[in-house]
Amino acid sequence: MPYSHWGINYFNIRLMELVLIDSLLDGAIKKGGERFLDFGCGLGLACVYASKYFSKVEGVDLDDPGVAFKTTRPAPAVGSELISGIGINNIQLTSGDSFAYLRDRTDRYDMLLSVFCLEHVEDIQGACDLFAASLKAGGRSVHIIPNTHDTTNQLLQTTLGPIAENEQNSVKSGRGTKKMGTMFAPITHSEFIEDYRQQFDVNCLERYIFPMMLSGMTIDKITPMREHSYAVLASKHGA
Ligand SMILES: C[S@@+](CC[C@H](N)C(=O)[O-])C[C@H]1O[C@@H](n2cnc3c(N)ncnc32)[C@H](O)[C@@H]1O
Repeated sequence: MPYSHWGINYFNIRLMELVLIDSLLDGAIKKGGERFLDFGCGLGLACVYASKYFSKVEGVDLDDPGVAFKTTRPAPAVGSELISGIGINNIQLTSGDSFAYLRDRTDRYDMLLSVFCLEHVEDIQGACDLFAASLKAGGRSVHIIPNTHDTTNQLLQTTLGPIAENEQNSVKSGRGTKKMGTMFAPITHSEFIEDYRQQFDVNCLERYIFPMMLSGMTIDKITPMREHSYAVLASKHGA
């Protein structure tokens, strides 16, 4: 299978993504430390990667079975089983809202990570304020977020005709119908988004980095990852 597909390459691709983050961001994860948290950890794959470098690794994901991973059980519960199955014992995955989880955990983490999570969060400023509060002084955070190229590339690869046609379809059906095939194929999670213009908003880098800056964090590096994501390294001022 090509790497642009999930399928049997899923875990390979996700692991390579983490190796890539580390090499592009000067070993941001490999530098290690005491405590690490993955905000919106899913099955906890990034926690497994981080468990080699941090003494205590935590992951938290909404207790919302089936939404992201097509399971009837919460992803952290499935992930916890997989993790104990491979004999790693410094990871704790929790089902629940990361906002509530972080609220009483101030000045605690050496590193925070979010991977394809912030685009699902409504209150991005609130999340960034929590990141800033829960990092130790000098702590670092890495966020993998979608990028606008994803949207613009697809626009450039197609004509505007299909978009107009799609919009008409959506007006007719009232449901935001998206055709596939030669049609403009909408991007990440677009099946949930009725208005194409919102794609630009969701994929805009400033939607994420300005709230990080407003929360008092310093943006140290922004780098394109693979075809549809950016990695952002943001840190909290040292003591
Ligand atoms: C696209 S998935 C990515 C999961 C994982 N980071 C990965 O890369 O495989 C987005 C995840 O964010 C989680 N999520 C969104 N908002 C959240 C919140 N407020 N608290 C915890 N998890 C959240 C969802 O439940 C979902 O599992």
